[in-house]
Amino acid sequence: MVLDRIAAARIVPVVVVDGADEGARLADALVAGGLPIAEITLRMPRALDAIKAVVAEQPDVLVGAGTVTSVAQVDQVVEAGASFLVSPGTFEPVIRRAQELGVPILPGVATASDVMRALDLGLEVVKLFPASVVGGPAAIKALSAPFPGLRFMPTGGVNAANLHDYLDLPAVIAAGGSWMVERPLVTAGDWAEITRRTAEAVALAAP
Ligand code: 3PG
Repeated sequence: MVLDRIAAARIVPVVVVDGADEGARLADALVAGGLPIAEITLRMPRALDAIKAVVAEQPDVLVGAGTVTSVAQVDQVVEAGASFLVSPGTFEPVIRRAQELGVPILPGVATASDVMRALDLGLEVVKLFPASVVGGPAAIKALSAPFPGLRFMPTGGVNAANLHDYLDLPAVIAAGGSWMVERPLVTAGDWAEITRRTAEAVALAAP
C-alpha cells in the first residue's frame, strides 16, 4: 500500500524538475542515494513530463505529484501515473476527485479546522504545511491531543538538523522536504551532491 511505502521511506523528497530528462536524472540520483521515492511538484511547465518519465523509466520509484491544487491537475497527474498526491491545502473538490480515482492524497493542514475537514472526508494522513511556520513538532503534538488517530507528513522547513524532531513523534509517518534535492543542485546538474545528501538523509532517518 502506498501510505505504507511512504512510512517505510520516512523521508519524501520534494522535487522541482522540468521535463523528462531532469526527472529521470533526479530519480537516478535518489535511487543511488537509497531513497526510491519522490514528490514531483507541479511548479514547472514540464513537470508532468517529468512524472511520466520517472514512472516509465524507474518502476521501482514511488512517484507522487505535489502542489496539486485543482481538480484538473488531479486528473492530469493520475493520467501521468502518479501513485500519490500532495496538496498545500485541504480543498474538498481536489480531495474528492483523488478519492474517486482511488489515489491516496495527503492534503496540507495548518489548523484544527483543516484537520476536521480532512477527517470528515475520511482521511487519516495529512501533510502539516508549512510545518516550521505553523509550529513545527509542537504543533503536531498539540493537534495529536484532540485527533489521536491522525498521522502527519510534516513538510516545509524540514532539514537534516531538525528531521528527528519530527520523525521521533509517533504521529509522524514521514517528513517531506527539499533539502537534498534543492533546485540549484538540479539546474547545476550536480547529481552527485543530490545522491550524497540523499544517502546522508536516509542514514539519519533510519529508526
Ligand atoms: C515545498 O512546498 O516546497 C515543500 O514544503 C518543501 O519545503 P522546503 O523547501 O522547506 O523543504
